[in-house]
Amino acid sequence: ATARRVAVSSSETLTALHTAASCLKDLSPVAFPTETVYGLGAIALNATAALKIFSTKGRPADNPLIVHVSSRRMLQTLLPQNYTLSPSYELLIEHFWPGPLTLLFPCDHSLIPDIITAGQPTVAIRIPSHPVARALIAVTDAPLAAPSANSSGKPSPTRAEHVLNDLNGKITIILDGGPCEVGLESTVEDIKRVLVNGFSDTDTPIPQILVHRRDFRDDALEQAPTTPGMKYRHYSPSVPVTLMHMSEVPLGIEPLSPSAFLEDLKRSMPHSPNALRVGLLMPSDSILMKSLISDTTIQWREFPFGLVSEPAIIARRLFDGLLTLEREGVDLILVEEVPEENEGLAIMNRIKKAAGSSQWIAIP
Ligand code: TXA
Ligand code: MG
Repeated sequence: ATARRVAVSSSETLTALHTAASCLKDLSPVAFPTETVYGLGAIALNATAALKIFSTKGRPADNPLIVHVSSRRMLQTLLPQNYTLSPSYELLIEHFWPGPLTLLFPCDHSLIPDIITAGQPTVAIRIPSHPVARALIAVTDAPLAAPSANSSGKPSPTRAEHVLNDLNGKITIILDGGPCEVGLESTVEDIKRVLVNGFSDTDTPIPQILVHRRDFRDDALEQAPTTPGMKYRHYSPSVPVTLMHMSEVPLGIEPLSPSAFLEDLKRSMPHSPNALRVGLLMPSDSILMKSLISDTTIQWREFPFGLVSEPAIIARRLFDGLLTLEREGVDLILVEEVPEENEGLAIMNRIKKAAGSSQWIAIP
């Protein structure tokens, strides 16, 4: 075979990783990229370090953290002695790790600080696929607890700049790995749910779980008592967000035409002498958007959001869109619903949490 010369990271990258690792060892949190969103990491087995995550984010203490590891070997060091993985977990790990899937494992409370699990009997663990995340964990040589690197309640950061805008002054290092590929947080899976909804340990139809995984962090799990974090308001920019529905009108609601909606909007947000500034998070082939922007008395700010047929791109850009439009100082953000299937389930889950109100539109 011919030898291939493959360039590896510059010494600058290695220095950055080592600087971040020593910051972590000094018990200070470090922001780092993962394939889902940027995380705010601290050494998981050190309660003092983990506590700083909560104070930096203003995170309620009853919302547990995900522990990130870089290898199966490191995973094993966190699990109770003599604990063997069930066949269904083996399958999930084999198929989805490294990647955006978080699994709940029984917790060895003598090892894992209570602050990490917030009193839950389980500990949430994942192996991220982002090379910088894995390298940071490996160089630090310790599992890292990390929630999303945002102030509690804000949309999760998907670019280093989002973290800087939010947490500048509160943390000292942000590793910039460019924009996150997935853009939404990992799915949190519980063995009990896998067994009930996915497959049992005796029969193992992988295709079913492959489909299942596409719902990321879905409503059913988020409302389950096992995810205490879900009761908090999430993903809200400081600007009002309205979810624009074009389908499934609830009983008793009369959908508005785009022009009637705009009249209502101008009445409710009078803005003279300056025009109303409205941000649009809508697919670039949206007929609703086309119809709205024909009204030139409003200053429209369109955020590039992908095509209706590209839910993975919409997922990647959702939080960026909310954060960017907020920073541009718009008065209101309108987000168009996407079909609730595949990535669309996870997208709609986040949009519903970000939106303070909903509006049904009938396109003539
Ligand atoms: O993709 C992600 O999940 C990102 C990156 C940084 O890994 N992390 C993230 O973490 O979004 P965070 O803290 O924003 O969300 C963690 C979720 C919360 O909903 C929390 O309630 C749930 O995981 N969770 C953590 N430990 C749990 C446990 N032991 N039992 C049930 N839910 C748990
Ligand atoms: Mg979060």
